[in-house]
Amino acid sequence: MNQAEKERLAKVGKTFNAKRYIENEIKAIREQVGDKRVLLAMSGGVDSSVCAVLLHKAIGKQLTCVFVDHGCMRLNEAKEVKKVFKGKFGINLIQIDAEERFLEKAKGLTDPELKRKCIGGEFINLFADVARDLKKKLGDIDFLGQGTIYPDIVESGVGGHKAVKAHHNVGGLPKDIIFKGLVEPVKYLYKDEVRKVGKLLGIPEEMVMRQPFPGPGLAVRCIGELTKEKLDILRHADFIFRDEMHKAGLDKKAQQFFAIMTNVKSVGVKNGARTFGYVIGIRAISTQQFVKAGVVELPFKFVTMVAEKIATKVKGANRVVWDITPKPPATIEWE
Ligand code: XMP
Repeated sequence: MNQAEKERLAKVGKTFNAKRYIENEIKAIREQVGDKRVLLAMSGGVDSSVCAVLLHKAIGKQLTCVFVDHGCMRLNEAKEVKKVFKGKFGINLIQIDAEERFLEKAKGLTDPELKRKCIGGEFINLFADVARDLKKKLGDIDFLGQGTIYPDIVESGVGGHKAVKAHHNVGGLPKDIIFKGLVEPVKYLYKDEVRKVGKLLGIPEEMVMRQPFPGPGLAVRCIGELTKEKLDILRHADFIFRDEMHKAGLDKKAQQFFAIMTNVKSVGVKNGARTFGYVIGIRAISTQQFVKAGVVELPFKFVTMVAEKIATKVKGANRVVWDITPKPPATIEWE
């Protein structure tokens, strides 16, 4: 048994029990944090959401969460986060609409790696600005909360997801924003255990069961330059596809399903008039560990219905293609 496994056993025990885990973790957080403050960057994903609610239960208003909308979020994402975490749970939540700032920074960039680096770097800059402001207003913030989960530790150890998760890793913060410690209340849990804890904490089912969404968001599903026009088209198409997947119950068959802005334009016809619009891709994959992935066999009628709906309803899009490539040789995301 290696060190991480020993630590997991000590925290979680031999059999996982969500109720016991929550009780123990609340105690542990209180002991670690005392009367100090914690700052947490929330992405709206399962891990940071569960982390936020656990921290809130333990230390209430000593927790401040920050949600940054970098302009590459899915439709209504920021609104839903606000409704649930500020509205339902009463968490101290600062939401920052930084769409313009991010798109301005990313202007002209077309290389996928440069786009990723730009968004990751700007995220750190913005988070550091918020931390500085809060320190001025509230005084010291001693702890940084993080929604690290057990596979992150295991995989980063073998050189796996460290780079993938770089966007979330706020360890690269400037020197004047040093935190005295990290609080990682779901660090020893697997994803299904995080979901169980989330459910028991009362986080809505659709948030707890959410499919993974990359830190750089739609930036990794929008080929070429990131523009508001292209991202809005993608957001709308993506919403239609995901909504239809849920309505048809096909969401249970896929671990990830989403739309892609291909950056290709083609001719079409809407309401008897010629259009010149974007081609949207759709992709639904099944996978266990995201290292390999298969294509979900969506019913053909369903696919053509979705294609017609997107091409009809989304202004600026007039054609849909279905990605039927497994991983490998393709990756899950298009970049
Ligand atoms: P690929 O495209 O490499 O994706 O087959 C594998 C899995 O990783 C997710 N992914 C990310 N997750 N930050 C994340 O948190 C990222 O920057 C990132 N890039 C890819 C992807 O959605 C898939 O589940």
